[in-house]
Amino acid sequence: MDSLLLHGGHPLEGEIPISGSKNATLPLLAATLLAPGFYRFTNVPKLKDVRTMSNLLRILGAKVDELDHELLIDTSHASHIEAPYELVKTMRASFYVLGALLGRHGEARVSLPGGCAWGPRPVDLHLKGMEALGAKLELDAGYVVASAYPLRGTTFEFATSSVGASANVLMAAVRAEGTTVLKNVALEPEVTQLALFLNRMGARISGIGTREWSIQGVADLQPADAVMIPDRIETGSYICAVGMTGGKVKLTHADPQQLPTVLDKAREAGLKVTLGAESLTVERTSDHLKPLDITTDIYPGFPTDLQAPFMAMSALASGESRICETIYTDRFTHVAELARLGADIRVDGPTAHIHGVKELKGAPVMSTDLRASVCLVLAGLAASGETEVKRVYHLDRGYEKLEEKLTRVGADIRRIEGDL
Ligand code: UD1
Repeated sequence: MDSLLLHGGHPLEGEIPISGSKNATLPLLAATLLAPGFYRFTNVPKLKDVRTMSNLLRILGAKVDELDHELLIDTSHASHIEAPYELVKTMRASFYVLGALLGRHGEARVSLPGGCAWGPRPVDLHLKGMEALGAKLELDAGYVVASAYPLRGTTFEFATSSVGASANVLMAAVRAEGTTVLKNVALEPEVTQLALFLNRMGARISGIGTREWSIQGVADLQPADAVMIPDRIETGSYICAVGMTGGKVKLTHADPQQLPTVLDKAREAGLKVTLGAESLTVERTSDHLKPLDITTDIYPGFPTDLQAPFMAMSALASGESRICETIYTDRFTHVAELARLGADIRVDGPTAHIHGVKELKGAPVMSTDLRASVCLVLAGLAASGETEVKRVYHLDRGYEKLEEKLTRVGADIRRIEGDL
């Protein structure tokens, strides 16, 4: 397993191009199963999770060609309906194919994803939504076996706003007979991109961008092309990097409109953030970071995926910060690793109390999940001495060319193949 070796203390200066969104690409790839034919996706991030979803499409009979930030997908012969455990267990988003397979074939056999480093992460809302559409669901040897002849329009309200469940149920609903009304749907930009894409395929979804969708089922859908939206979580992570190291970095190919609450918090911390049409420039103008009070929430609230990076930044603030995690209340595995670098953090239930310290000191630390890993890299960029972040395969799932992008703006970071 690879590690990253960092020597901290270098202010970042220059430009970092933001990649296409991982979390937008994954459901759109699943959606290609809904209509046979050719699709061309551009601005696709080169990431392990995207390769995993491409492999799942291949298992289901699709042809996927990977070019430079581009995917050519042919689902003309995607006639298989089983998503195997070996693959689904490595990436929860594989579960998205349930809705698409039901929508296209009226049947599916998809492995349950199983546990996750952040706690149980259930899929009950995905399943309840499919059942509301008339799908018959059974559990067989860890697989959800679903059939629906046919799917029928219904009114269904998600008990909790869920990105995955909204996307999954939507992919089934676009092919259901009659009208489906889905309430309390997710507003995250990645879900909105999926709904807009499905409409380009011929679906009839209204209410996109609100909490209630009305979906007129259609008998046929056609392939469409898509350009992936910028990755708002990658953008937010690099904002924290500048906050922690100082300097001035322009984040290009970004969409500042996707980050309302995040930019507010970055400014509250004392960063100067200047917006362009497709870029934002982040600068640390003072020696001191101000403490923050953050509560994660569904979009447009503060994203749980940026909780760990902002915690790393708050570890260096002058004063007490408080971060309350409301989406995944167990998502604090990075706290113990940040402590190894000298951070002073106390967790009390869903709330972390961060007592800012003057400096972090390099140490060997271990990645536990994607966003926890990036927060350790950010901490290592600011720490004195040498930091070794082990098990960085988590990072490769969600941050394209992280070392290359950071090296180009002045960081001292390199990959060591195999653990040190
Ligand atoms: C997606 C993102 C992930 C992000 C999360 C929250 C992808 C591939 N992943 O994950 O990076 O952290 O949104 O923004 O896009 N829940 C249930 N039952 C369900 C489904 C969800 O109770 O069936 C709960 C979850 O436990 C959680 C909340 O709903 O508390 C939100 O989870 P959800 O939005 O579904 O997250 P994911 O789609 O898994």
